[in-house]
This record gives sequence, structure tokens and C-alpha cells, in this order.
Amino acid sequence: MKKRYDRAKTMTKIICVCGARPNFMKIAPIMRAFKANGNFQTLLVHTGQHYDQNMSRLFFDDLGIPAPDVNLEVGSGSHTVQTARIMERFEPVVLDFKPDFVLVVGDVNSTIACGLVAVKLGVKLIHVEAGLRSFDRTMPEEVNRVLTDSISDLLFVTEQSAIDNLKKEGVNSEKVHFVGNVMIDTLLANKEKAQRSDVLRRLGLSEREYGVITLHRPSNVDDMAMFSQIVAAFEEIQKELKLVFPIHPRTRNRIKGNALAGRIEAMKNLLLVEPLGYLDFLCLMSNAALVLTDSGGIQEETTILGVPCMTLRKNTERPVTITEGTNRLVEITKEGILKGYCKIKIKRAGKNDDSSHKTPKLWDGKAAQRIVRIIAGA
Ligand code: UD1
Repeated sequence: MKKRYDRAKTMTKIICVCGARPNFMKIAPIMRAFKANGNFQTLLVHTGQHYDQNMSRLFFDDLGIPAPDVNLEVGSGSHTVQTARIMERFEPVVLDFKPDFVLVVGDVNSTIACGLVAVKLGVKLIHVEAGLRSFDRTMPEEVNRVLTDSISDLLFVTEQSAIDNLKKEGVNSEKVHFVGNVMIDTLLANKEKAQRSDVLRRLGLSEREYGVITLHRPSNVDDMAMFSQIVAAFEEIQKELKLVFPIHPRTRNRIKGNALAGRIEAMKNLLLVEPLGYLDFLCLMSNAALVLTDSGGIQEETTILGVPCMTLRKNTERPVTITEGTNRLVEITKEGILKGYCKIKIKRAGKNDDSSHKTPKLWDGKAAQRIVRIIAGA
């Protein structure tokens, strides 16, 4: 490895970090854009925060991401343990590679852990997907976002609200660049390919005749009373619309052996499946009648796909998906979810997509190219 580092003395050296499932679709177009530029020497570091085949490896395969140069293999743990372990294992990598920049994406524990290591070593930090705020500090991701932004040297944002938030927090506007959305770069690059997935056939589904569920936020799945309300709504909805639920390992662990697991398994029209790869999931989402989720990225993806999205959260850090997209927040009670479901049913009655949605500014598939151009000039 040393040899490789020396050969590229004139190139800009950059460590790109990924660690958890939603990071992989963000890092893919960035790695491609660095390669296309030709003036960067990249080191791809996977922290190993997510490690199951279907939470990590499948995404590298589906998205053609080069194999990580380094895997820190940190695995699961409490937030403190996970963050500390990433920091300890990342520091020697930075010391060895001596990068000009460290680039982190999103808002997971790997993002703040590696960001903090970079600045402590005096390396410039780049945050992709900066400025998003739910204003809910009980969300682990919100803390990660605020902290990462406050120590970053270059902040790339996806929507106007992020620029406004950073301005209010006193971030120098010269550091902030509105570039679009790298997650949407990946979606647009893979949309056609995803249609060739046979996931609908495998699961026995027909276009627009099912809903997709994803659920993993601690606020929903760690609180059994809350989770029970959500399950009660699913029990009603599945009486008229088939539901597919690729279950996150965290959610599966939470309900293992308790009454909720029994209720979920007892629903005749709810299909519980393992987490899917990127292309299968994109195909599933694009052909769905609606999506029920607590994910951040899925709010953005459904906006571009024109598929109605019910977000089971009190807030969203991605308000453009509501003002311009197909997203709506629903109250997390049985009644609240059913009310949201009925509104979608009435609005859509027979139509395949939500014709009122717009494409947010610069969500055009070129965000990664803009990012690399700006870093090259920095
Ligand atoms: C993490 C991110 C969250 C993101 C989500 C997407 C943080 C704070 N949270 O949450 O923002 O939306 O990823 O998935 O970084 N597990 C496995 N196999 C895996 C990974 C996890 O079984 O490959 C299980 C373990 O029981 C683990 C639990 O899931 O303890 C939670 O994993 P963790 O990475 O801590 O957080 P997520 O809930 O996945």
C-alpha cells in the first residue's frame, strides 16, 4: 500500500467513508466521479457498522462500488461503543494515508466518528448531505448532523432548508454548496436496471397492488406501545391492500419472541421478508401503490418516483419532500396512520402516480459531479 501512496504525490488524496446501509448509495456516485476526474487518489473506508450480507455486500454488488480498501469491522454496539471503536480504528488509517481531505456522508454514527478523527488530526473535512435538521435532539442522527456540520470545512447540501439551517447556526456561507442529491444520482442511474429485477414475480405481487413498509427508528420500534399502534394500523390496511415488509435486523431483534411478532406473522396479507438489495428494493418501491416508512432516504426516493409516501414520524429533516414531493407526515397512532392511508386512497383513486409532485431543484443525477468539481477547485 505504501508504494501506491508514494506514486501519487501530486494527486489530491481523499478518504471516503461509508459504514451503514444508507451510506452506500450516497458514496457510489461520488467514487465514480472521483475516478472520472482522474486527479484524486481515493481510499474507500468501510467502518463495518453494517455487516450482514444484505445490509452491506449486496449494495456494493448492485451499485458497482469498488471493494473497500479498508474495513474497520466495528460491528454493532451501543452508540458510545460503536462511535469510540470507529474512532480508534480510523485514526491509524488517516495517519498512514495522510489525506488532504476526509469525506463523510449522511448522519450515521460512522459519519460523526470519522469526521471527528479527521479534524483532530488537522485534516479538512467534507460533509455530503449537510444542513438537514429535524430539530429533534432525541434522534441520534440529529446529534450526528449538528456535530458533523459544526466541524466541517466543506458542506454540500441537497435542499434550500439546509442552507437556511446552516446560516442560522452561523456557518460561513463560503463553505456551503448547494449541489443536489447524491442519493438521487444513484436512483436515476439505476432506475431502468431496477425494472429488470424479478422481485415482484418472486414475491407474487402485481404493480400498484401493494404497499411497502420499512421501519427501524428507535422512536417507533423500541417503544412497544408505539409499535403496537403501528401494527394495529397495518392489521387494518392489509385487509384491503397487500403489504410487503422487508424487516430491518434491528426491528426483528426488538420484537423477537414477543406478542408483536405473533401479530405481524398472523397477518394473512402482510408479507414479511428479509432486507432486500438496492435494485430489488428500488423495483419494489417504484411499482408500489404507497410506501409507509420512517426512513430519511426513502422520503426522497419516493418523491422522485412519484409514489405516495407516509412517513411515520413527528418531523422530517427533508421538508422539500413534503412541499414539493409526495411525502406526508402521519400521526403515529392507529387512527393517524389510517387517516393518512384514506387520504392517499381518495386522492389517488385509480391513478398510478401523484401528478402534483415536482422534482426538487438540482435533483438531476449530477450532484456527485458538482461535488468533485468543487473539491478539485478547493
Ligand atoms: C443506522 C443509523 C440510521 C440509519 C440506519 C439504516 C446510526 C445512529 N443509525 O441505524 O441513521 O437510518 O442505520 O439502516 O448510525 N444489525 C444487524 N446487522 C447489520 C447491522 C445491524 O443485525 O448488518 C442489527 C444489530 O442488532 C444492531 C442493530 O441492527 O445492534 C442496529 O444497528 P446500528 O448500526 O446500530 O443502527 P441502525 O438501527 O441500523
